[in-house]
Amino acid sequence: MSTKIIAIDGFASTGKSTLSKRLAQHLGFTYMDTGYMFRVVALQVLKNKWLEAGELNDAALASFLPELNFHWVDQEDGLKAMGANGVVYGEEIRTQEVSALVSQVAANAAVRQHLLEQQRSLAKSANVVMDGRDIGTVVFPQADLKFYLIAQAEIRAQRRFDEMQAKGLTADFDAILANVVERDHLDSTREIAPLKKADDAIEIDTSHFTVEEVFALLCKQLPTDF
Ligand code: DC
Repeated sequence: MSTKIIAIDGFASTGKSTLSKRLAQHLGFTYMDTGYMFRVVALQVLKNKWLEAGELNDAALASFLPELNFHWVDQEDGLKAMGANGVVYGEEIRTQEVSALVSQVAANAAVRQHLLEQQRSLAKSANVVMDGRDIGTVVFPQADLKFYLIAQAEIRAQRRFDEMQAKGLTADFDAILANVVERDHLDSTREIAPLKKADDAIEIDTSHFTVEEVFALLCKQLPTDF
């Protein structure tokens, strides 16, 4: 029996992860955060200094990637978290250092190929709500339902700033806005699997809506057999 897939693609900080989690919980599906996977790789690049003169160390990545396995971890609350080789990552992959590097890592062909295979494999064992950039266009063009979220850059930067402050992380609004704009550019202009709306995705501008309002819009689109 094939599993069900909802793809939520869009720019950074449009509310994708909050909404994907909510929708997954509402439907009893599993939330798959594909940005997490790219962030885990970016963290390893930082830790191991696989960036020399602005260039990723392809040889180091080529030996690291085949050993990197993502898997579901059953949590006490009944939900599934994503682990990478037995480790469930938290705030260490959400720092500004990782955010500053992750789009470059996500443009790398070997990284994308490995994570694409991992994403397809993870979706075989669970109905999923996946958020990312290329889910509806490349990873699962046959997804059951696709959304594409957009919002103004300043509003997205403010959201990320508030999020980081609430978590007690150091935050600098101008640096966050610069990172949001830079990542928009890198993510939508890269050669492989750039961020773009799938023809059959439902586009929602979340700039002036609350999470509750967008959630209600998403729910309206759910097929009756979900
Ligand atoms: O959603 P996020 O900010 O955690 O994503 C981190 C980076 O990973 C983002 O800059 C683009 C990249 N990404 C991607 O290229 N493809 C995906 N499916 C998910 C994320």
